[in-house]
Amino acid sequence: MMNIGILNSGGDCPGLNAVIEGVVGAAHYRGWKVIGFYDGFEGLLSTENERRYEELTPQSCRNIRAMGGTILGTVNKGNFAIKVGIGEKGEIEPPVLEKTRETVHRLNLDALVVVGGDGSQSTALLLSEIGLPVVGVPKTIDNDLGATDLTFGFQSAVEVVTESIDRIRTTANSHRRMMVVEVMGRHAGWIALYGGLSAGADVILLPEIPFELDNVVRDIRMRRAAGQREIIVVVSEGAKLGDTVMTLDAETTGEVRLGGIGQFIAKKLEEATEIETRCVVLGHTQRGGAPIAFDRVLGVRFGSAAVGLIERKEFSRMVALRGTEIVSVSIEDAVKSLHRVDPDCQLVCTARDLGVSFGDVASRS
Ligand code: F6P
Repeated sequence: MMNIGILNSGGDCPGLNAVIEGVVGAAHYRGWKVIGFYDGFEGLLSTENERRYEELTPQSCRNIRAMGGTILGTVNKGNFAIKVGIGEKGEIEPPVLEKTRETVHRLNLDALVVVGGDGSQSTALLLSEIGLPVVGVPKTIDNDLGATDLTFGFQSAVEVVTESIDRIRTTANSHRRMMVVEVMGRHAGWIALYGGLSAGADVILLPEIPFELDNVVRDIRMRRAAGQREIIVVVSEGAKLGDTVMTLDAETTGEVRLGGIGQFIAKKLEEATEIETRCVVLGHTQRGGAPIAFDRVLGVRFGSAAVGLIERKEFSRMVALRGTEIVSVSIEDAVKSLHRVDPDCQLVCTARDLGVSFGDVASRS
C-alpha cells in the first residue's frame, strides 16, 4: 500500500484531468491511495487548519478525462515559481521547502507526481534535490519541453487554431482581406507551425526563423497578383522583429508575457500591401475546452506510466513520449533546454514545398 500525491502547476492545458484520472485509476488498481493538491505546489503549504488537498478516488474522477481545465486548479506564480528565463533556475525559499517536507511527511506520502511544463519540472527537480520522491509528467500547449516528442495539450491547442483559421478564412475570402492570426507558444513555434500547416496559412512566422517584413510583403503581393482573395498570416507570439520579442506590460512568474506582434505586423502589412487587414489574437481559447481524443489517451497513458515509475521507485524521472512509446527520462535532462522548431526540419521543408512563406530570404510563394 502506497500513498501518493499529485499536483499540476503552471498554465492549465487540455488533458490535465486525463492525467489525474490515469494516475488515480492506476494507483487504485494497485490498492494505493491518492491525494490531490489544489492550486499547484501551493497546496503543499497546507496546514492542519487550512487543507488544500483531498483524497481522489476512481469515483470522484470518473470520466474527468473528457473535461477541460483541471479539477485541482493551478497557478503559474507564487512561492514555487522559480523559472526566471530560458535555462535559468531560481531558488525556493528555505521555509517554503521546510513546510513542503513537513506536508509530505505528515501525509505519509511515498511519492509526488508533478504535472507541469519546464518551470514546474524545474521546481520538481529542486524538490527531488532535497530528497523528496518526485516523478514528472510533461504538460504544456507550447510543446517546448525537452526529452519528449510531445507534451499533452499541444494537439488540442493546434485543433483550436485549425478550426479558428478555417472560420477566419471564410470571412477573409468574402471581404478579400488579409487576416493576421496571433497564436501562443512562447519561445517555440510549434503551435504556429502545426496550426498554420494544418489550416493552409500562406505565411507562418516563428520565433526560430528570423523574418523580414519586406520578404513577407513580397510573398503576399505575389499571391494577390495571382488572384488570391484571402491571405492568412499566422504569427507566433514569440516571433522576433529583428532581435526584439514583443511583450505585454505585465509579468507572470517573473517571465515577461508575450503578445502584441500580431497587431503590430497587421498594421505594417496593411500599409505596405494596401490590402485591408484584421488581426485576431486566439489567446486563451487555445488552452480552454475539452481535450481532443489524442490528448485524452496520451493523458491517461502518461498518468498510468507515472504510477509505474513510482512502483519501480524510479524517482527524479519524467514520463515522455518517444515515437509511439512511453519511456522515462531524467527530469534534469527534460529541463536542460527548450524543445524548439529546427528551421531545417522536415515539417518546415514540407511547408516550404507547399509554398508557405516564413518571411525569410529562402521563402518564395
Ligand atoms: O505556456 C503556456 C502559455 O499558454 C503560453 O503559450 C503563453 O505565453 C502563456 O502560457 C500565457 O500565460 P498566462 O495564462 O499567464 O497569460
